[in-house]
Amino acid sequence: MQERLKRLDVILGIHPESPYQVMEKALKRAPKDIISDLIDSGLKGRGGAGFLTGLKWKFAAAAEGDEKFVVCNADEGEPGTFKDREILTIVPKKVLAGMGICAYVTGAKKGYIYLRGEYKYLVPHLEREIAEFHKNCFKLELDFNVEVFLGSGAYVCGEETALLNSMEGFRGEPRNKPPFPTNNGYLGKPTVVNNVETLVSAQVVSRIGVEEFKKLGIQDSHGSKLFSVSGDTPRPGIYDLEFGLSLDEFVREFGDGDTKAVQVGGASGFCVPRKKFQSTTIGFPGGLTGDSLPTGGSMMIFNSSRSMYNVLRNYLDFFEEESCGQCTPCRIGCQQLKVGIEAVKRGDKDPEYLQQLLKLTDTMKITAKCGLGQSVANSFSSIVDNFREEMIY
Ligand SMILES: Cc1cc2nc3c(=O)[nH]c(=O)nc-3n(C[C@H](O)[C@H](O)[C@H](O)COP(=O)(O)O)c2cc1C
Ligand code: SF4
Repeated sequence: MQERLKRLDVILGIHPESPYQVMEKALKRAPKDIISDLIDSGLKGRGGAGFLTGLKWKFAAAAEGDEKFVVCNADEGEPGTFKDREILTIVPKKVLAGMGICAYVTGAKKGYIYLRGEYKYLVPHLEREIAEFHKNCFKLELDFNVEVFLGSGAYVCGEETALLNSMEGFRGEPRNKPPFPTNNGYLGKPTVVNNVETLVSAQVVSRIGVEEFKKLGIQDSHGSKLFSVSGDTPRPGIYDLEFGLSLDEFVREFGDGDTKAVQVGGASGFCVPRKKFQSTTIGFPGGLTGDSLPTGGSMMIFNSSRSMYNVLRNYLDFFEEESCGQCTPCRIGCQQLKVGIEAVKRGDKDPEYLQQLLKLTDTMKITAKCGLGQSVANSFSSIVDNFREEMIY
């Protein structure tokens, strides 16, 4: 087995030092040292955007505000992603310890776990864990209180500013950025919004230290990553692997021997065809070799029995349904892309029409207000460019 395919237990494993011992150790250090360690570790957000976590905490710590907040983003709406659910089920203490360390560093006294509506069944489990966490905070003299906030099933509410709007009782619509939540977040106060896995990874940096953390992964993509593997695979599930593995290695391990494409990063990610498996590395752009593709965790495998036209049409259905409708490029664009590929497939439009649709996705990338509309281009262009023959009549 290739080195980078070795199963790790960094995120979901149980370790001799408990998460609350790790938190206790962190709370004895100066907040600025924790921040500089996090920055040195190169930890990037696991929610998809890949922003440096240490920098985010630093901005929130430096921001002026009579109140500050830590929000754990557990909306997990990206198609093909199901790892945050597992983290919250198996190692909620690690998430809470990560939130506690963040609260200590930034001065936040209140935290929320924004939980995907479909994960409602986890609420009693999380509330028990939070009660125990509060006892530990009391013991460590950390004035920090956490609550669960239940979402209502909108994909766009995973976008951090739509999430904050929904918490404030407004429509779940993304806000203009800047200002960013670290300065102007929940109730207009400085707020750190971090993905579930990011908070665990921040806690991991405190537990194992910067040097050990950096031994995992590659340049610009340090640490391990939980992958949600689904689709045409004999082994669907959640795997803790090192960043930097090639898609070729991944497919040899998880494919069914007939893999024709892998969708990296869910519907808003990129579709990689077989001929590019070898040159594609899983990691944030800037990695060592070939094309680096990041993923929030979703890895969907398709074998040759799958129609990539149907795959793309499904994604467009999803985007059309989930667009909040606030801005025209996304509201109309998603719909027109779907109508457009249907027309080409029926033969009502020439194959050249696909070029116009690709131009439309370019426009959406530049003009849509949030990541939902901006990222439609990723799956659209990677599927149309690589599987053009499947798109036409
Ligand atoms: C449409 C959309 C949906 C998103 N859904 C999620 C989500 O479910 N979970 C998540 O952590 N980040 C999600 N994000 C990214 C968040 O906006 C934000 O970047 C992330 O929570 C920051 O945390 P991190 O720095 O720890 O990655 C989404 C972004 C967009 C545009
Ligand atoms: S890009 Fe789409 S989801 Fe985002 S604000 Fe515009 S309409 Fe809403």
